[in-house]
Formats: sequence, structure tokens, C-alpha cells
Amino acid sequence: MSLVLIEHLKKSYYISERSVSILSNINLSVGENEIVSVEGASGVGKSTLLNIIGGLDEFDSGRLEVCGVNLANKTEREREEFRAQKVTFIFQHHLLLPDFSAIENVMIPLLINGVSYYKAKKEAKAMLEKVGLGDRIDSFPAQLSGGESARVGVARALATGKQLILADEPTGNLDRENSKNLMSLILQLQKEHPFSMILVTHDLELASLATKRNKLISGELQSV
Ligand SMILES: Nc1ncnc2c1ncn2[C@@H]1O[C@H](COP(=O)(O)OP(=O)(O)OP(=O)(O)O)[C@@H](O)[C@H]1O
Ligand SMILES: [Mg+2]
Repeated sequence: MSLVLIEHLKKSYYISERSVSILSNINLSVGENEIVSVEGASGVGKSTLLNIIGGLDEFDSGRLEVCGVNLANKTEREREEFRAQKVTFIFQHHLLLPDFSAIENVMIPLLINGVSYYKAKKEAKAMLEKVGLGDRIDSFPAQLSGGESARVGVARALATGKQLILADEPTGNLDRENSKNLMSLILQLQKEHPFSMILVTHDLELASLATKRNKLISGELQSV
């Protein structure tokens, strides 16, 4: 079964009152437990594509089905509901909430999804232990290193138990070693908690871990 099915997807942006085509003909299918890379130069539209798949942004035409939901012509409200239920994001800057501790950052999406406080706390703690931060659960983002913050971001994404993780340069601001560690952690966690991932990255070493590799060129995806 395809978790993500994209056919002939198009997207343009209005830039200085002119319509500029960013994605001209995107075709992609992502199956269960697949890690699919989207590589390509800066500005080609990688984040745009990921945001569309995650229901953060609209598209102009084509077919887009994600986790069984047809995302064509959805309202902002419907896309919000879709995001809450189906997908989770990992970003380069992790976007941890600065006024909340590591464990609270992992708990918040669970609480929003209706998990009880007690259960959310227990699950968040267990997930932080798995990413090697069992002794840092009460630290605030400003007290964590880049690599540690990245691991909190991964714990937060995985704790939700969603089938699809959308990762935009997840190791983008980490050094080589931390970047490698983070990716091997993600692969290790995938064995325990199966998920599929679309991985946007410039990093060829990271991309080489994908089960299927693609490059975005001139608005289209080409397999690498
Ligand atoms: N909201 C927007 N309005 C207008 N243009 C936009 C908008 N968002 C992105 N763009 C433009 O669309 C193009 C693709 O942007 P995008 O962020 O998807 O690139 P990217 O491949 O992720 O680049 P990078 O590797 O630098 O992150 C860029 O030219 C960008 O300026
Ligand atoms: Mg980007």
C-alpha cells in the first residue's frame, strides 16, 4: 500500500505579481517502512514539496493522497485536521518550544491528540530514554546542545506514533558526527516503531541511507 501517492502535481508561487512555476510535474509513491530522499539544489522546491505533502501548503493541480486522505481542494481547517492525525515533521531547527522542558516538548503533541497527562508523560520519558536523553528530560532547549535538541525533535516526532515522518534537513545544523549519530538513531528506532519517512537533504551521506533516492530538478523528481 502507498502511504503517499503523487501524480502530476503542480505548484506555482506568485512572486512580484508573476506566477512562477516551482513544481511542474511531481510523481512519487512512498510505501510502508520506506525512507525516500528528496535531494536537489537550494531553491528548487524541496521544502515546498514537503510542506504540500504535510498539508501545510496548497497545490495547484494533480493528485495527492497521503495516508489515505485525498488532499486536493482541502480547506485550511481540513488540512489542519489531517496534519494532527496523520503526519509529523522534523525540521532543521527542531522548533522546540523554548519555555518548555524537553519532556514537555515531547508531551505536547500527545496531549493535543487527546492522550492523558499521565500516559503522555510516561511515553515521552520512555522516548527520551531511547534517544539517550533520559537524564536530560527536565532541561530546557537553551540548555541543550544542537545534537541533543535534534534528538528531542526526533523523540517528539516518534512519540506520536504516526506512520509518516516528514523531515526537512533534520541534520542540517549538526556537525558530521552528530549528523551520523542522529541518522543511525532514526534507523534504529524505525526497527522498533515502523514508519515511513520523506527525507529532504543536501547531505549525500544521509541520502545514501534512504531506501529510494530522488532528486528534484526543474520541477520534477528523478530517481538517483
Ligand atoms: N510563500 C512563498 N511565496 C513565494 N515564493 C516562495 C514561497 N515559499 C518559497 N518560495 C520560493 O519557491 C522556491 C522554492 O523554495 P523552497 O523553500 O521550496 O526551496 P528548497 O529546495 O527547500 O531550498 P533550500 O535547499 O534552500 O531549503 C524558492 O525560489 C523560494 O523563493
Ligand atoms: Mg528547504
